[in-house]
Amino acid sequence: MARQILFEHINVPGINTLETYVSKGGYQSLARAFKMTPDEVTEEVKKSGLRGRGGAGFPTGMKWSFLDKKSDKPRYLVCNGDESEPGTFKDRHLMMNIPHALIEGMIVSSYALGARTSYIYVRGEMMPVIRVLEKAIQEAYKAGYLGNNIQGSGYSLDLYVQPGGGAYICGEETALLESLEGKRGNPRNKPPFPAVWGLYGCPTVVNNVETIADVPWIVNHGGDAYAAIGIGKSTGTKLISACGNINKPGIYEIELGLPVEEFIYSDQYCGGIPNGKKLKAVVAGGSSVPILPADLILKTANGEPRLMSYESLNDGGFVSGTMLGSGGFIVYDEDQCIVRNLWNFTRFYHHESCGQCSPCREGTGWMEKVLHRIEYGHGKMSDIDLLVDVAKKIEGKTICPLGEAAAWPVASAIRHFRAEFEAHVSDPGSCCKKHLHREMTSVH
Ligand SMILES: Cc1cc2nc3c(=O)[nH]c(=O)nc-3n(C[C@H](O)[C@H](O)[C@H](O)COP(=O)(O)O)c2cc1C
Repeated sequence: MARQILFEHINVPGINTLETYVSKGGYQSLARAFKMTPDEVTEEVKKSGLRGRGGAGFPTGMKWSFLDKKSDKPRYLVCNGDESEPGTFKDRHLMMNIPHALIEGMIVSSYALGARTSYIYVRGEMMPVIRVLEKAIQEAYKAGYLGNNIQGSGYSLDLYVQPGGGAYICGEETALLESLEGKRGNPRNKPPFPAVWGLYGCPTVVNNVETIADVPWIVNHGGDAYAAIGIGKSTGTKLISACGNINKPGIYEIELGLPVEEFIYSDQYCGGIPNGKKLKAVVAGGSSVPILPADLILKTANGEPRLMSYESLNDGGFVSGTMLGSGGFIVYDEDQCIVRNLWNFTRFYHHESCGQCSPCREGTGWMEKVLHRIEYGHGKMSDIDLLVDVAKKIEGKTICPLGEAAAWPVASAIRHFRAEFEAHVSDPGSCCKKHLHREMTSVH
């Protein structure tokens, strides 16, 4: 059985209640943390090598140490539960089924950061999750884990759940802060970063749900014990949302370093590809990361087995590698159309662009239009390079990384599957007979 940190008790009946959670050892990290100074807790998190699970993989302890402690303003911890990246659906599962794991993480992390008020920002559409969290927070207040003078420690914390603004961009940390302040969720220019100028202009840390839920284990067992799990600088476990053409879609907690091949084909995880079909491609870290064809997702360009880790997935940079991202693992079998899939992703990014930056606002729209005409049999060969050109003109030229999120899938799909784009132009329908014959005559 693989190592389980977050999901060890996920299938225990009633684990969403405080009573059952406590009976399984829940909330023990509070007493341990309160015996330490806040800086000592941060030090353990640093030692653990924990990296942000929201996508960028930034070292969590280091992020915490950037918090402006000289400021006499209040400090905030904000948990990012927006989870709107296509292919990623792990945080909602954690919050819905084991809400106290996040609440416990919020308390010890807030203590480490010196926050007296903290927020969990949850994607607005996920009302059932919001209700579960609110109920769990009430339970935690009643039991004295939240509120004034928690467990006689002298430390006090208020925790609130905030329904999100219903937009993918509200998951970008500074857009999230704007939204939390009651404004339109537009990303802010950086610097200043949230550690200096965050919520209401105060020092703030924004962390992903999974990141924060990992902290109690680190406090209970020590940073070194966490760092001993995983591989190299990819320490610990990671929740992977697996979907697409696999026999067992679901959310798996894996130890980082697991070979990709084992993850796809082993019965313990995805269970292989249905109907004996061949693997065509994988998007390994949510829709924003580069797509890789079967040969490159299973082995690096040097012929090494590709591992589920930050470093191994990125081996070869974006020429022959990709990213672990938020762990949204989408599998495509031989029948899937890369052009259609890319058009679908690009439609999403165009719809979700906040519109502040011209390259993203205009570029995502143009990429969607060009992909639509290629997919529907009206493309020109020059459109393929036009797409690459537009993607390049978005990348690195926007306030927030939504621009890259839209550009990387386009650049990588054309890099690895150019022949498929060309076939769509020279012989429309040759690749996707199933859907194109039906639709070519109707939508333009
Ligand atoms: C468009 C966009 C959407 C994002 N959505 C999320 C999200 O839903 N959840 C999340 O944790 N991070 C998301 N991020 C990343 C956050 O900006 C931020 O890096 C993260 O919450 C930091 O937490 P971590 O260090 O624990 O990963 C998004 C980034 C961008 C650019």
